[in-house]
Amino acid sequence: MVNGSEVDFGIGTEEHQVPPSETLADTLRERLGLTGTKVTCDNGACGTCTVLMDGKAVLSCMTLTVECGGRRVVTIEGLRDPLTGALDPIQQAFIDEGAFQCGFCTPGIIMSAKALLLENGAPTEEEVKEGLSGNFCRCITHYQVVRAVMAAAQGGE
Ligand code: FES
Ligand code: FES
Repeated sequence: MVNGSEVDFGIGTEEHQVPPSETLADTLRERLGLTGTKVTCDNGACGTCTVLMDGKAVLSCMTLTVECGGRRVVTIEGLRDPLTGALDPIQQAFIDEGAFQCGFCTPGIIMSAKALLLENGAPTEEEVKEGLSGNFCRCITHYQVVRAVMAAAQGGE
């Protein structure tokens, strides 16, 4: 299931099938058009490809799609409220705090932050820094990012 919708691909090498070696990042971007998930290093080092799987942050460039059967995957496109269309509070907090510049790393950081807040609704600043330590931003927005996550956590109280 991706962003609340059932997705069913056969496994194989036909055009409509997912090869066993295909990553979740490629399936999301190339097959499902969910290009909000970014790929930078494609090697597990930068965090830009982070999505949620069963509520936990995973690196979609390091996850094979064949491993995702029966799992709930959420991408940045799926964070909005499906009924009202309202942004998730963590997305709104990033806007309010100006926690991005070019924005390329932002979906991955937001998904890591979402996973952190799902696990710990009132993190300390140190816990936020630790929770986002696998996400890199070349524009150096880290200070604003920490402020945004702390604001989203406080707003959820
Ligand atoms: S693109 Fe997946 S960790 Fe860098
Ligand atoms: S905002 Fe540009 S890489 Fe993070």
